Parts: sequence; C-alpha cells; structure tokens
Amino acid sequence: MFQRVSASILCVDYNNKEVLLKAVSDVEKAGADFIHFDVMDGNFVKNKTFDHELVNFVKANTNLLLDVHLMVENPENVIDNYINLGADIITFHYEATKDAKPLLEKIKDKNILAGIAISPKTPAYKIRELVKSGLVDVVLVMSVEPGAYGQAFIPGSAEKVAEIREFSRSVYIEVDGGVNLKNAKILRKMGTNILVSSSTIFNAKNMKKAIQELKGSDYAKRFLKFFNKD
Ligand code: DX5
Ligand code: ZN
Repeated sequence: MFQRVSASILCVDYNNKEVLLKAVSDVEKAGADFIHFDVMDGNFVKNKTFDHELVNFVKANTNLLLDVHLMVENPENVIDNYINLGADIITFHYEATKDAKPLLEKIKDKNILAGIAISPKTPAYKIRELVKSGLVDVVLVMSVEPGAYGQAFIPGSAEKVAEIREFSRSVYIEVDGGVNLKNAKILRKMGTNILVSSSTIFNAKNMKKAIQELKGSDYAKRFLKFFNKD
C-alpha cells in the first residue's frame, strides 16, 4: 500500500499570492505529494473559500499533483471548471448531490481520479455499492465536520477506514481532518493511502520531518536511504 501526503493550504493566507506560493514551494520541497484544495461554497458548509481560479494559479506554479476537495452543494454545476484545468483528483461529497454516478463517470472519462467524500455522520455502508461498482477511485473519509481547519479528529474515523477497506482492496482511501503524527499510524494500519493535513504540516517546526512521519517510519527510512540524507 502506498502512502501519500496531501497538504491543505486552508490554514495559510491563500489570498496573499506571495504567501501562497511560498507555502506551496515549502511543502513541495518537504516531500508532499499533493496540494489539497478545500473549495467551500458558503452553502454546503458555512464558510466560503476559493474557486478554480486559485487552483489554476497554483497549477501554473508547482509540479505537485492537484487534489481538489469540493465542499459545495450540487457539484455538477462547477465540476467542469476543475476537469478543464486538469486536476489530478476531484472529490465531491456524497451528501451534496442526488446522483453521484454520472459525476464520477464524467471525471473518470477524463482520466482524472474520481473521489467521493463522506462527512462524519454518513455511515460507510451508504457508499458500499458505489465503491463496489468500480466507479470510485478515491474515498475521502472526513474525520472532522467539513468547513474548517484545526479541529479535533473524530474518534471512530479509523474504524470507518477499515470498513471501507473491506469493500475494496484497490480503492484509494484518503483521510481529511485533524490528522496528526499520532493518529496517522492507526490510519495507515487501517488502510489509508492519502493523509490530508493543514495544521500538522504548516505548524510543524520541521515540515520535512512531519511529512515523513505522516507517511510512516518505513517510508521515512527508505526515503532517507535513497537520498542519503540524515
Ligand atoms: C476541512 C478540510 C480539511 C482541513 C484540514 O473542511 O476539508 O482539508 O483543511 O485541516 P487540519 O489538518 O488542520 O484539520
Ligand atoms: Zn479537505
């Protein structure tokens, strides 16, 4: 099972282009795999953040993969914007749309990884058939209520990962919200492939070390050996 880290820019001052680009370049140098974009519409969640234009701006300035997390009502209205700019993962919420299937198909048709997110109150079995249908590339398990960074991890989220792993050996599982160096271990053990973090990464004294630890000690050892660094 591969382990990847997706760095959410939510806790940086993303409206300040200079700050944003520095944050993106810092996480790239520190070994993150994806930049995670929390698109909020002020409707599905209270807060409003940014749209595809900001994602496009970052794309022009990084080699990192683009991981778009849409916290918007009726994602079918905006999804083309993210498909057209060439995001690498596009994830929308199961709770935000009536029919997830055509949306997943549309994303997959463009060779983009199609993700379905579930909020903490949505039980795993609700997406069982969708996952089993093979239309889902990524399941994003929200381990906090969607809407803000810096919240505490909701207990039971790791068990939810294990449950989803039972549905499919091959689906990528991403966990988002309150991820830290402690809960990362159990999340990996239960079958998580992509850990999202904003606070743990951007508040770390040593960002590179934090990202390596999120990926796990085995990964860190291999990484250090490969690059022959301390
Ligand atoms: C919450 C967002 C998360 C958030 C994570 O709605 O989906 O991506 O940025 O932030 P931390 O890691 O601080 O919980
Ligand atoms: Zn997110």
